[in-house]
Amino acid sequence: MRTRYIIGNWKMNKTATEAGAFVRRLMQELPASDGIQVGFAPPFTALHAAREALGSTSTLLLGAQDLYWEEKGAFTGEVSGTMLKDLGCRFVLVGHSERRQYFGEQDSWTNKKVLAALRNGLQPVLCVGETLQDRESDQIDLVIQRQLRAGLAGIEAQSLETMVIAYEPVWAIGTGRAASPEQAVPVHRLIRGTMNELSGSEAGQRVRILYGGSVTPHNLADFLASEEIDGALVGGACLDPVSFATLAKVAIGSKPTTA
Ligand code: 13P
Repeated sequence: MRTRYIIGNWKMNKTATEAGAFVRRLMQELPASDGIQVGFAPPFTALHAAREALGSTSTLLLGAQDLYWEEKGAFTGEVSGTMLKDLGCRFVLVGHSERRQYFGEQDSWTNKKVLAALRNGLQPVLCVGETLQDRESDQIDLVIQRQLRAGLAGIEAQSLETMVIAYEPVWAIGTGRAASPEQAVPVHRLIRGTMNELSGSEAGQRVRILYGGSVTPHNLADFLASEEIDGALVGGACLDPVSFATLAKVAIGSKPTTA
């Protein structure tokens, strides 16, 4: 079975000072996270404080919410994979729908970012998802496949299988209206099938596919009941250390029951 991931995306929340306090509290609350991986992505400005608070022995994964594809140079305001790696990041989100929606992120950029992450030894978490309009006009498959094929163009099978894909339907993000497992599972199957195709092998079987969009400690177990769903990418419910630790506890305790 694939190791489950519970990843918190802090978005634009918490100062460096708040991040230190959060991490110290989280470490008190979290059980030994046997068999699952727990990670979180603070804003760039809080990465160092979070790293310091984690110490050198923590198994919690630190990640970033974005990166730029060049290593260094005259790119005002940007942060490179080399810089993130140096700060102790292990993974990086790429192509989050808020980047696409508010900052004009395109599939060609997500492709360069995924490549830059891999080059720097960071695990890319590529986010894909349809809007409500896409769903209502029956465009889900088209949109998801486009985001995957364009975002992963030119990436070797060996690297593809180390990736994490987060399926985040745009209409479910921050709305309190999570997709139902019945809505999410077929898209997860589509993503895995596409990953198999792209890798030209069964490598897609090893890819972790997370669900994101209004996940809470109350609905997480319903998603994890499907073997297709390998964990969650969580926004709002990850900002409180007790709530985030509860999500990890749910993931440790629940077993998939359906294929
Ligand atoms: P919410 O959990 O707040 O809906 O956010 C999901 C998300 O965008 C995680 O990346």
